[in-house]
Amino acid sequence: MSTRTMRTAGAALAFGMTLTALAACGSDDSSSGGSTSGGSAAAGGGNEKIALLLPESKTARYEAFDRPYFEAAVKSGCAGCSVLYSNADQDANKQQQQAEAALTQGAKVLVISAVDGKAAASIVASAKAKNVPVIAYDRFIAGANYYVSFDNFQVGVLQGQTLVDIMKKNGKQGEIVMINGAPTDANAADFKKGAMSVLQSSGYPIAASYDTPDWSPDKAQQWMESQVTTVKDKLVGVYAANDGTAGGAIAALKGGGVNPLPPVTGQDAELAGIQRLLSGDQAMTVYKAIKPQAEDAAKNAIALAQGKKPASTVDKEGVPSTLLKPVAVTKDNIKDTVVKDGFWTVEQICTGEFAAACTEAGLS
Ligand code: BGC
Repeated sequence: MSTRTMRTAGAALAFGMTLTALAACGSDDSSSGGSTSGGSAAAGGGNEKIALLLPESKTARYEAFDRPYFEAAVKSGCAGCSVLYSNADQDANKQQQQAEAALTQGAKVLVISAVDGKAAASIVASAKAKNVPVIAYDRFIAGANYYVSFDNFQVGVLQGQTLVDIMKKNGKQGEIVMINGAPTDANAADFKKGAMSVLQSSGYPIAASYDTPDWSPDKAQQWMESQVTTVKDKLVGVYAANDGTAGGAIAALKGGGVNPLPPVTGQDAELAGIQRLLSGDQAMTVYKAIKPQAEDAAKNAIALAQGKKPASTVDKEGVPSTLLKPVAVTKDNIKDTVVKDGFWTVEQICTGEFAAACTEAGLS
């Protein structure tokens, strides 16, 4: 049968279940209009407002993938539902205001990638006071109703392990520097822990380590510039937590005359990152398939908005969660990962200056 028919059947079944649930607990407070036990669905499921609050726009993924995939998945799962979208531009206060605005506009569920995971506790409290469930999207928030992300410790392990493998292959002894993510982002701590689990016992000492405020590529670049003269000759590897910070680090190394460049890690499989793999400026990135993540969040947002339970596979600190699998990408498997998945097409990657490297990597 068509997916449309299946969805309709699913919705009818879910609606039936909601009625049963309501009948079973007859004292449910329908005046609050949005309790997780079914009030909102009974009040006319199918036209709920779903708020999506993303943290920043310097990292390409949010506007290019998370938002459009999420909006499309909400539309196909609930034709009458609408998405209230906002981006906080790395400002935690702005995100708090955006969350309050979404609640005022009648959002039945908040899907948040928190700028500041700890500060987001007050967003959860405001939402809970209105019986509005919260989905922690990509970044963990204690007390959320559901969390969907990747195995972020494993992201760090992949970064650390690939870096060590390449440094060993290069055969040069020396030191590494670490450019981590934002200290306000719980993911950044997990990436670092995962990377450290490999780097600490690798025999490559960590000369210096930096937590990049706001994940800002510019700040990563400035910090790397401040290190270049000190570490220059000893530097055999750079751990950069994502492609944005990797881009900053690489610009600083080039500007400081470091040649050849040491291997630099990344994350997100941004187009610029993939192209740097081809040019040899960046050694690896981590591909996180955002489509299934956004679709999972949308499916569970619709469920929660309609008073149903989210479908989770694991528990993280009492929050029902789903953790997807990250994949390490080097020049050698671009074709089998991001291209195969349709994340980037060969045409998008293999523009003019990358044509020769693309042929060499078997992409064209
Ligand atoms: C995300 C990364 C992203 C970073 C900067 C992290 O929480 O998991 O994909 O690069 O934030 O926005």
